[in-house]
Amino acid sequence: MTKKSKATLATHASLVPERNFGIPNPPVYHASTILKSNLSDYRNHVGEYDYGRMGTPTSEATEKAVAQLYGCDDIVAVPSGLSAIVVGILSAVKNGDQALFPDSLYGSGRRFVEQELPRQGVEPVFYDPTGKIDDLADLVTAQTSLIYIETPGSLTFEMQDTQAIVTLAHENGVLVAADNTWGTALYYDVFGHGIDIVIEAGTKYISGHSDVSIGFVGGNGDVGRAIRNHCLNYGLCVGPDDHYLALRGLRTMPLRLKQSEQNGLALARWIEDQPEVVGMLHPGLESHPQHHLWKRDFSGSCGLFSFVIDAGISDAAVDDMVNNLEMFGIGASWGGFESLISEANYKRSVSSRPNGRVMRIYAGVEDTNDLLADIERGFERLRNLK
Ligand SMILES: Cc1ncc(COP(=O)(O)O)c(C=O)c1O
Repeated sequence: MTKKSKATLATHASLVPERNFGIPNPPVYHASTILKSNLSDYRNHVGEYDYGRMGTPTSEATEKAVAQLYGCDDIVAVPSGLSAIVVGILSAVKNGDQALFPDSLYGSGRRFVEQELPRQGVEPVFYDPTGKIDDLADLVTAQTSLIYIETPGSLTFEMQDTQAIVTLAHENGVLVAADNTWGTALYYDVFGHGIDIVIEAGTKYISGHSDVSIGFVGGNGDVGRAIRNHCLNYGLCVGPDDHYLALRGLRTMPLRLKQSEQNGLALARWIEDQPEVVGMLHPGLESHPQHHLWKRDFSGSCGLFSFVIDAGISDAAVDDMVNNLEMFGIGASWGGFESLISEANYKRSVSSRPNGRVMRIYAGVEDTNDLLADIERGFERLRNLK
């Protein structure tokens, strides 16, 4: 078979019309029970599928398509991006271990790490995502079993030097897990960079329509097997309709991602030049302090970024700017078709915070000029009220 680009794989992976009356999209099989023709077959697990929770043609189609995009042995679908984070971490640690997390870890992931890991006898330690590699090396002990990466970081978009971190981890026999929701399989080659465990919130770009909650987590060889085993033991599975919607979303993800990327860059470039803006947190822009890492490691940027408004600007002015935007919904999540804006609420314990009010924008797939015009009108309101 000829080698295909990731964009083509997203469109073509897991199509089996020859097994499906010529219909391109795999059908939605609703199943808990899967019947066997006799007791011997039941006893010996004869047949491709045994029990709905453990896999159906529907779940297999989605998981295989995402695994193909990542070029890894196995990917498991779990009920949310957060559960992908949880599974990725728990499959790599055991009682008595220590695990390292970037201070810019996604907020709900941080809550899990802080509240639940100690209950499992695992010590979480936070590190500065842009700190020196020697400082990270100082945190590694004989008990360290996992270094977790999220690049760029949630809300504040710090880029991490994954090459240096992976080298450090592997020299010490430590696994590396990465939340690749921002980079996606299309813009960041997780396994090509030597990372062991991939996590992606399929709720975002893969599903792409703000109506599905799903996560993906996986790896190669024993790591991939441990992840699948963990999901089996914990009874994690996703309903067939959500599998179907995620795979359906994947078909157009390359196009949506491209438009969202272009919109994000256009908005970020315009916003960056406004006098009320004291910081632009977009790794794809030359002004980003770790732009060189993005340029070295990524082949694109998604449409999610933040900007920092001068702390002296009043709540009323910011509220008036945001509340009256026509094109941007006010809400969490991202990766859907529609643009969103929100104010960042986050915790940091070992790294510095941007000085000012951090606003996050998700650029959807709308017309670029309509988004720009709306934001321009928003800044006029901000300026008038200040
Ligand atoms: C970077 C990142 N990872 C994971 C998640 C969690 O995804 P979900 O909302 O599907 O649990 C999010 C959600 O916003 C996210 O931004």
